[in-house]
Amino acid sequence: MKRNILITGGAGFIGSHVVRLFVNKYPDYRIVNLDKLTYAGNLANLKDIENAPNYAFVHADICDFDAMLDVFKRYNIDGVIHLAAESHVDRSIKDPFTFARTNVMGTLSLLQAARLCWTDGFEGKRFYHISTDEVYGALEFDGTLFTETTKYDPHSPYSASKASSDHFVRAYHDTYGLPTIITNCSNNYGPYQFPEKLIPLFINNIRHGKPLPVYGKGENVRDWLFVEDHARAIDIIFHNGKIAETYNIGGFNEWKNIDLIKVIIKTVDRLLGNPEGHSEHLITYVTDRAGHDLRYAIDSRKLKNELGWEPSLQFEEGIERTVRWYLDNQQWMDNITSGDYQRYYEEMYRGR
Ligand code: NAD
Ligand code: DAU
Repeated sequence: MKRNILITGGAGFIGSHVVRLFVNKYPDYRIVNLDKLTYAGNLANLKDIENAPNYAFVHADICDFDAMLDVFKRYNIDGVIHLAAESHVDRSIKDPFTFARTNVMGTLSLLQAARLCWTDGFEGKRFYHISTDEVYGALEFDGTLFTETTKYDPHSPYSASKASSDHFVRAYHDTYGLPTIITNCSNNYGPYQFPEKLIPLFINNIRHGKPLPVYGKGENVRDWLFVEDHARAIDIIFHNGKIAETYNIGGFNEWKNIDLIKVIIKTVDRLLGNPEGHSEHLITYVTDRAGHDLRYAIDSRKLKNELGWEPSLQFEEGIERTVRWYLDNQQWMDNITSGDYQRYYEEMYRGR
């Protein structure tokens, strides 16, 4: 194999798109997907490539340092794309310890394993850490954007844990010379997203005629990027990004939550054959998220200017594809809501 790449968190939402892209695009790379299969990990996300000859799955916790050493040695890993994380802000408010453990200690465990196992020098090696725009804090409604030099100002336990992991990654470059890259991306949407996040949760609730819990007044703004565009950016940056650099990734696509929710309702109703406005009564304003960041918006011009990446999909097309995918894949959704998806791994790997 030309390269042996460790992708962590590959059974999750974004990770599964990255694994699929790399397995299909690079038949001469071995892609090792390492995932703990928490509630957010679902191997059914990778059903189409699970038997590919250049794909391997390792069931492990990134916090298990000995297991990380073992994987690096066993597969002769020379590149890491690190996506494994606890990723949901609401869960971080209820259980911050789990976020610190996985996002901070887990990242540290991987960094240390890479440092100790890459004994023949760092030439040709790469440790790529996937971070989030949430580390930059919140913007006002003033048209400003997060750039790569915006000061870190995290507000939730989730974003604080991601910010902390970013600092460790930079420290490993500055102290030990580890060849690191960090990217900070805005909100992703698309197929295979766990239905605790706004878009899949609301599509599923509309389908079942259940209330749509809008936090606060629904005025918060997010910058939405189709997940396959994020995976494409990761591919470009992994191969051509400059060591020790940070790149912001975003869609230049800001939506106020309530406006986005109305687009989702309209699209689901149309595709289900309901009359326009049919599901609007499901909108239910609820208590705001604690510390709810007002607005995120990414300036991704550095990535465009230096590496030529731009979002490929217009939002209207992306949201149509996304809603269609969830409506066409109701079994995938029902397996999650029933809990059946967690038995997939057991059945798949029984007796191996
Ligand atoms: P996700 O929650 O869908 O998936 C996370 C994956 O990590 C799951 O498969 C889970 O099983 C695995 N995992 C969790 N803890 C682990 C551990 N201790 N050891 C091994 N595996 C573990 O997350 P996502 O939305 O796909 O996000 C992936 C990455 O991208 C995260 O680092 C997140 O911070 C970042 N990010 C997400 C978004 C977004 O909009 N979703 C935007 C920017 C950045
Ligand atoms: O910006 C990147 C981040 O985007 C990622 O780092 C996170 O991993 C990812 O979860 C996402 O964070 P958000 O908190 O922005 O995503 P979420 O889908 O949870 O919420 C989007 C917006 O919708 C946010 O303003 C909160 C609001 N919301 C969310 C839910 C789940 C609601 O109003 N009601 C809801 O039920």
